[in-house]
Amino acid sequence: MFGKIIFPYDFSEYGEKAIPYIEKFKSIGGKEVIIIYVVEYNEVFKHVLYKELELKRFQKKINLRLQPLKERFEKIGFSVTTCVEFGTPSNVIIKKALEYKADIIVMGAQGRGAVGSFFLGSTALNVLQRSSIPVLVVPSK
Ligand SMILES: Nc1ncnc2c1ncn2[C@@H]1O[C@H](COP(=O)(O)OP(=O)(O)OP(=O)(O)O)[C@@H](O)[C@H]1O
Ligand SMILES: [Mg+2]
Repeated sequence: MFGKIIFPYDFSEYGEKAIPYIEKFKSIGGKEVIIIYVVEYNEVFKHVLYKELELKRFQKKINLRLQPLKERFEKIGFSVTTCVEFGTPSNVIIKKALEYKADIIVMGAQGRGAVGSFFLGSTALNVLQRSSIPVLVVPSK
């Protein structure tokens, strides 16, 4: 039922809160984790020139940063795919969940843009509103 898990991760402490929950899915049929990081276009403009080669290099660098997390999940028996995409996070997350035919999305309630006590960030809210598969949103507190 929850074999294939999508984990949108933005390298924030709030996103990290989802990790122990994903690990728990292992004992109830979890088999595969797809970790997705979405590079927002404004971030690309800040860091690299908008050239195909530079984008590829940027993508590779982020993939490397995801390796320790990939290994952490693999160590407990998940098969893990990392995925670095460009675009609007919620759009990409929804699209990838469909493409991978995922069973559940597990994510943080807030992320890198967290402002004080707002309960839900815009990515979490958009995914919740539009997803056709279950979404587990892990609170920041
Ligand atoms: N760029 C991203 N790539 C992958 N996952 C993301 C990305 N941004 C957010 N997420 C996921 O969504 C969760 C909630 O983050 P969200 O962006 O909604 O909150 P926020 O950054 O506090 O608010 P906002 O982006 O509206 O300023 C994160 O913990 C993470 O799981
Ligand atoms: Mg955000």
